[in-house]
Amino acid sequence: MGRLDGKVIVLSAAAQGIGRAAALAFAKEGAQVIATDINEEKLKELDGTAGIRTKKLDVTKQNEVEALAAGLERVDVLFNVAGFVHHGTILECGESDWDFTMNLNVRSMYLMIRAFLPKMLARRSGNILNMASVASSIKGVVNRCVYSTSKAAVIGLTKSVAADFIEQGIRCNCICPGTVDTPSLRERIQARPDPEQGFKDFMVRQRIGRMCTAEEVANLCVYLASDESSYVTGAEHIIDGGWSL
Ligand SMILES: NC(=O)c1ccc[n+]([C@@H]2O[C@H](COP(=O)([O-])OP(=O)(O)OC[C@H]3O[C@@H](n4cnc5c(N)ncnc54)[C@H](O)[C@@H]3O)[C@@H](O)[C@H]2O)c1
Repeated sequence: MGRLDGKVIVLSAAAQGIGRAAALAFAKEGAQVIATDINEEKLKELDGTAGIRTKKLDVTKQNEVEALAAGLERVDVLFNVAGFVHHGTILECGESDWDFTMNLNVRSMYLMIRAFLPKMLARRSGNILNMASVASSIKGVVNRCVYSTSKAAVIGLTKSVAADFIEQGIRCNCICPGTVDTPSLRERIQARPDPEQGFKDFMVRQRIGRMCTAEEVANLCVYLASDESSYVTGAEHIIDGGWSL
Protein backbone atom coordinates (compact mmCIF):
# COMPACT_ATOMS: atom_id res chain seq x y z
CA MET A 1 0.00 0.00 0.00
CA GLY A 2 1.31 3.40 -0.97
CA ARG A 3 0.94 6.44 1.27
CA LEU A 4 -0.79 8.34 -1.57
CA ASP A 5 -2.87 5.55 -3.09
CA GLY A 6 -5.81 6.90 -5.08
CA LYS A 7 -4.82 10.56 -4.84
CA VAL A 8 -4.76 12.75 -7.92
CA ILE A 9 -1.94 15.29 -7.66
CA VAL A 10 -1.20 18.21 -9.98
CA LEU A 11 2.12 19.97 -9.67
CA SER A 12 4.05 22.67 -11.52
CA ALA A 13 7.77 22.92 -12.32
CA ALA A 14 8.10 19.14 -12.45
CA ALA A 15 10.77 18.96 -15.15
CA GLN A 16 13.70 19.34 -12.77
CA GLY A 17 14.79 19.98 -9.20
CA ILE A 18 12.34 19.74 -6.32
CA GLY A 19 9.28 19.43 -8.58
CA ARG A 20 10.72 16.45 -10.42
CA ALA A 21 11.78 14.73 -7.18
CA ALA A 22 8.30 15.33 -5.74
CA ALA A 23 6.55 13.97 -8.86
CA LEU A 24 8.61 10.77 -8.66
CA ALA A 25 8.06 10.41 -4.90
CA PHE A 26 4.29 10.96 -5.25
CA ALA A 27 4.05 8.35 -8.01
CA LYS A 28 6.13 5.88 -5.99
CA GLU A 29 3.61 6.22 -3.16
CA GLY A 30 0.70 5.35 -5.46
CA ALA A 31 -0.59 8.77 -6.57
CA GLN A 32 -1.81 9.59 -10.06
CA VAL A 33 0.45 12.52 -10.88
CA ILE A 34 -0.15 15.21 -13.48
CA ALA A 35 3.35 16.66 -13.81
CA THR A 36 3.49 20.02 -15.57
CA ASP A 37 6.24 22.42 -16.63
CA ILE A 38 6.87 25.11 -19.22
CA ASN A 39 9.89 23.11 -20.47
CA GLU A 40 8.12 20.40 -22.45
CA GLU A 41 11.28 18.70 -23.70
CA LYS A 42 12.76 18.20 -20.24
CA LEU A 43 9.37 17.27 -18.81
CA LYS A 44 9.08 14.44 -21.35
CA GLU A 45 11.88 12.62 -19.50
CA LEU A 46 9.16 11.67 -17.00
CA ASP A 47 7.01 10.06 -19.70
CA GLY A 48 6.79 6.33 -19.19
CA THR A 49 7.13 6.55 -15.40
CA ALA A 50 4.28 4.58 -13.85
CA GLY A 51 1.69 6.91 -12.31
CA ILE A 52 2.93 10.07 -14.05
CA ARG A 53 1.22 11.92 -16.91
CA THR A 54 3.01 14.99 -18.26
CA LYS A 55 1.46 18.19 -19.59
CA LYS A 56 3.05 21.41 -20.75
CA LEU A 57 1.90 24.35 -18.63
CA ASP A 58 3.05 27.93 -18.26
CA VAL A 59 1.74 28.83 -14.82
CA THR A 60 1.73 32.54 -15.66
CA LYS A 61 -0.83 32.03 -18.45
CA GLN A 62 -4.36 32.22 -17.11
CA ASN A 63 -5.89 30.47 -20.15
CA GLU A 64 -3.51 27.50 -19.84
CA VAL A 65 -4.09 27.19 -16.09
CA GLU A 66 -7.87 27.36 -16.46
CA ALA A 67 -7.89 24.85 -19.33
CA LEU A 68 -5.91 22.35 -17.25
CA ALA A 69 -8.23 22.73 -14.26
CA ALA A 70 -11.34 22.45 -16.46
CA GLY A 71 -10.08 19.22 -18.01
CA LEU A 72 -9.60 17.39 -14.72
CA GLU A 73 -12.62 16.03 -12.93
CA ARG A 74 -10.98 15.64 -9.53
CA VAL A 75 -7.76 16.90 -7.99
CA ASP A 76 -6.91 15.95 -4.41
CA VAL A 77 -3.60 17.79 -4.11
CA LEU A 78 -2.38 20.91 -5.91
CA PHE A 79 1.34 21.59 -5.47
CA ASN A 80 2.54 24.98 -6.70
CA VAL A 81 6.28 24.68 -7.17
CA ALA A 82 7.30 27.09 -9.95
CA GLY A 83 9.51 29.96 -8.86
CA PHE A 84 12.52 32.02 -9.88
CA VAL A 85 15.45 33.36 -7.83
CA HIS A 86 16.54 36.91 -8.64
CA HIS A 87 19.83 37.94 -7.04
CA GLY A 88 20.26 41.48 -5.75
CA THR A 89 19.33 44.17 -3.31
CA ILE A 90 16.40 46.51 -3.96
CA LEU A 91 18.81 48.84 -5.80
CA GLU A 92 19.78 46.03 -8.17
CA CYS A 93 16.21 44.98 -8.79
CA GLY A 94 14.75 46.79 -11.78
CA GLU A 95 11.03 47.10 -12.34
CA SER A 96 11.07 44.28 -14.91
CA ASP A 97 12.92 41.99 -12.42
CA TRP A 98 10.33 42.84 -9.79
CA ASP A 99 7.38 42.21 -12.12
CA PHE A 100 8.82 38.98 -13.54
CA THR A 101 9.46 37.52 -10.08
CA MET A 102 6.14 38.54 -8.56
CA ASN A 103 4.32 37.25 -11.64
CA LEU A 104 6.01 33.83 -11.62
CA ASN A 105 6.38 33.32 -7.87
CA VAL A 106 3.10 34.78 -6.57
CA ARG A 107 0.55 35.61 -9.26
CA SER A 108 0.91 32.09 -10.72
CA MET A 109 -0.18 30.61 -7.37
CA TYR A 110 -3.13 33.01 -7.28
CA LEU A 111 -4.14 31.77 -10.76
CA MET A 112 -3.64 28.09 -9.93
CA ILE A 113 -5.53 28.18 -6.63
CA ARG A 114 -8.43 30.15 -8.12
CA ALA A 115 -8.68 27.64 -10.95
CA PHE A 116 -8.47 24.45 -8.88
CA LEU A 117 -10.20 25.40 -5.62
CA PRO A 118 -13.84 25.45 -6.83
CA LYS A 119 -13.89 21.71 -7.63
CA MET A 120 -12.18 20.96 -4.31
CA LEU A 121 -14.85 22.98 -2.52
CA ALA A 122 -17.60 21.14 -4.38
CA ARG A 123 -16.23 17.89 -2.91
CA ARG A 124 -15.45 19.54 0.45
CA SER A 125 -11.98 18.09 0.18
CA GLY A 126 -8.71 19.51 -1.06
CA ASN A 127 -5.07 19.92 -0.17
CA ILE A 128 -2.92 22.78 -1.47
CA LEU A 129 0.86 23.00 -1.09
CA ASN A 130 2.82 26.09 -2.02
CA MET A 131 6.58 26.35 -2.42
CA ALA A 132 7.91 29.22 -0.30
CA SER A 133 11.44 29.53 1.13
CA VAL A 134 13.28 30.34 4.32
CA ALA A 135 14.34 33.50 2.43
CA SER A 136 11.01 35.22 3.08
CA SER A 137 9.37 36.58 6.24
CA ILE A 138 11.31 33.85 8.10
CA LYS A 139 14.86 35.04 7.49
CA GLY A 140 16.46 38.14 6.04
CA VAL A 141 18.90 36.97 3.36
CA VAL A 142 21.30 39.32 1.57
CA ASN A 143 20.83 39.91 -2.17
CA ARG A 144 17.40 38.28 -2.34
CA CYS A 145 15.15 41.35 -2.17
CA VAL A 146 12.35 40.53 -4.60
CA TYR A 147 12.73 36.77 -4.12
CA SER A 148 12.24 37.09 -0.34
CA THR A 149 9.37 39.51 -0.85
CA SER A 150 7.66 37.05 -3.20
CA LYS A 151 8.15 34.08 -0.88
CA ALA A 152 6.83 36.07 2.10
CA ALA A 153 3.75 36.72 -0.05
CA VAL A 154 3.46 32.95 -0.65
CA ILE A 155 3.39 32.42 3.12
CA GLY A 156 0.67 35.07 3.46
CA LEU A 157 -1.32 33.54 0.61
CA THR A 158 -1.02 30.10 2.21
CA LYS A 159 -2.31 31.27 5.59
CA SER A 160 -5.10 33.24 4.00
CA VAL A 161 -6.39 30.29 1.95
CA ALA A 162 -6.03 27.97 4.97
CA ALA A 163 -8.04 30.36 7.15
CA ASP A 164 -10.77 31.06 4.61
CA PHE A 165 -11.55 27.45 3.71
CA ILE A 166 -10.70 25.37 6.77
CA GLU A 167 -14.37 24.68 7.50
CA GLN A 168 -14.92 23.48 3.95
CA GLY A 169 -12.43 20.63 4.03
CA ILE A 170 -9.48 22.47 2.49
CA ARG A 171 -5.94 22.37 3.86
CA CYS A 172 -3.20 24.69 2.68
CA ASN A 173 0.45 24.56 3.74
CA CYS A 174 3.73 25.90 2.47
CA ILE A 175 7.22 24.46 2.35
CA CYS A 176 10.22 26.61 3.24
CA PRO A 177 13.51 25.06 2.17
CA GLY A 178 16.96 26.46 2.79
CA THR A 179 19.54 25.62 0.11
CA VAL A 180 18.57 22.69 -2.09
CA ASP A 181 21.07 21.22 -4.54
CA THR A 182 19.11 21.54 -7.80
CA PRO A 183 20.15 22.25 -11.41
CA SER A 184 19.12 25.90 -11.10
CA LEU A 185 21.18 26.35 -7.93
CA ARG A 186 24.22 24.92 -9.74
CA GLU A 187 23.55 27.27 -12.68
CA ARG A 188 23.34 30.26 -10.33
CA ILE A 189 26.67 29.30 -8.78
CA GLN A 190 28.27 28.85 -12.22
CA ALA A 191 26.97 32.25 -13.32
CA ARG A 192 28.94 34.01 -10.58
CA PRO A 193 32.20 35.77 -11.48
CA ASP A 194 34.02 33.29 -9.21
CA PRO A 195 31.99 30.02 -9.12
CA GLU A 196 34.38 28.36 -6.66
CA GLN A 197 33.90 31.20 -4.18
CA GLY A 198 30.16 31.13 -4.94
CA PHE A 199 30.00 27.47 -3.94
CA LYS A 200 31.95 28.22 -0.75
CA ASP A 201 29.54 31.07 0.08
CA PHE A 202 26.59 28.67 -0.17
CA MET A 203 28.40 26.02 1.91
CA VAL A 204 29.32 28.43 4.73
CA ARG A 205 25.67 28.87 5.60
CA GLN A 206 24.96 25.09 5.73
CA ARG A 207 25.01 24.57 9.48
CA ILE A 208 24.36 20.86 8.99
CA GLY A 209 27.45 20.66 6.78
CA ARG A 210 25.84 20.02 3.40
CA MET A 211 23.06 21.20 1.14
CA CYS A 212 19.59 19.67 1.18
CA THR A 213 18.72 17.22 -1.60
CA ALA A 214 15.59 17.56 -3.70
CA GLU A 215 14.61 14.07 -2.49
CA GLU A 216 14.67 15.23 1.15
CA VAL A 217 12.25 18.04 0.29
CA ALA A 218 10.14 15.50 -1.64
CA ASN A 219 9.87 13.36 1.51
CA LEU A 220 8.29 16.31 3.34
CA CYS A 221 5.99 16.88 0.36
CA VAL A 222 4.78 13.26 0.50
CA TYR A 223 3.88 13.68 4.17
CA LEU A 224 2.03 16.94 3.51
CA ALA A 225 0.21 15.49 0.48
CA SER A 226 -0.88 12.41 2.43
CA ASP A 227 -3.60 11.95 5.04
CA GLU A 228 -0.83 11.48 7.62
CA SER A 229 -0.85 15.29 7.85
CA SER A 230 -4.65 15.57 8.06
CA TYR A 231 -4.52 17.91 11.12
CA VAL A 232 -1.87 20.15 9.58
CA THR A 233 -2.90 23.38 7.88
CA GLY A 234 -1.83 27.00 7.53
CA ALA A 235 1.74 26.18 8.50
CA GLU A 236 5.22 27.01 7.24
CA HIS A 237 7.23 23.80 7.03
CA ILE A 238 10.89 24.68 7.35
CA ILE A 239 13.47 22.26 5.91
CA ASP A 240 16.75 24.15 6.04
CA GLY A 241 19.33 22.12 7.98
CA GLY A 242 19.19 24.69 10.77
CA TRP A 243 19.96 27.74 8.60
CA SER A 244 17.21 29.78 10.24
CA LEU A 245 18.18 28.75 13.79
N1 LIG B 1 16.77 25.21 -4.93
C1 LIG B 1 16.70 25.85 -3.79
O1 LIG B 1 17.70 26.05 -3.08
C2 LIG B 1 15.37 26.36 -3.29
C3 LIG B 1 15.28 26.81 -1.96
C4 LIG B 1 14.06 27.28 -1.50
C5 LIG B 1 12.96 27.33 -2.34
N2 LIG B 1 13.09 26.89 -3.62
C6 LIG B 1 11.90 26.98 -4.48
O2 LIG B 1 11.55 25.71 -4.98
C7 LIG B 1 10.98 25.83 -6.26
C8 LIG B 1 11.71 24.93 -7.24
O3 LIG B 1 13.06 25.27 -7.23
P1 LIG B 1 14.15 24.30 -7.88
O4 LIG B 1 15.49 24.90 -7.57
O5 LIG B 1 13.86 22.90 -7.54
O6 LIG B 1 13.73 24.43 -9.39
P2 LIG B 1 14.51 24.80 -10.69
O7 LIG B 1 14.75 26.27 -10.70
O8 LIG B 1 15.66 23.87 -10.86
O9 LIG B 1 13.40 24.43 -11.74
C9 LIG B 1 12.33 25.28 -11.92
C10 LIG B 1 11.40 24.68 -12.94
O10 LIG B 1 10.36 25.63 -13.14
C11 LIG B 1 10.03 25.65 -14.50
N3 LIG B 1 9.39 26.91 -14.84
C12 LIG B 1 9.97 28.11 -14.99
N4 LIG B 1 9.06 29.03 -15.39
C13 LIG B 1 7.87 28.37 -15.46
C14 LIG B 1 6.56 28.76 -15.82
N5 LIG B 1 6.26 30.02 -16.19
N6 LIG B 1 5.56 27.84 -15.80
C15 LIG B 1 5.84 26.56 -15.44
N7 LIG B 1 7.07 26.11 -15.09
C16 LIG B 1 8.07 27.03 -15.11
C17 LIG B 1 11.37 25.44 -15.20
O11 LIG B 1 11.20 25.00 -16.53
C18 LIG B 1 12.04 24.42 -14.30
O12 LIG B 1 11.78 23.09 -14.72
C19 LIG B 1 11.02 27.31 -6.61
O13 LIG B 1 9.80 27.93 -6.27
C20 LIG B 1 12.13 27.83 -5.72
O14 LIG B 1 12.01 29.20 -5.43
C21 LIG B 1 14.26 26.40 -4.12
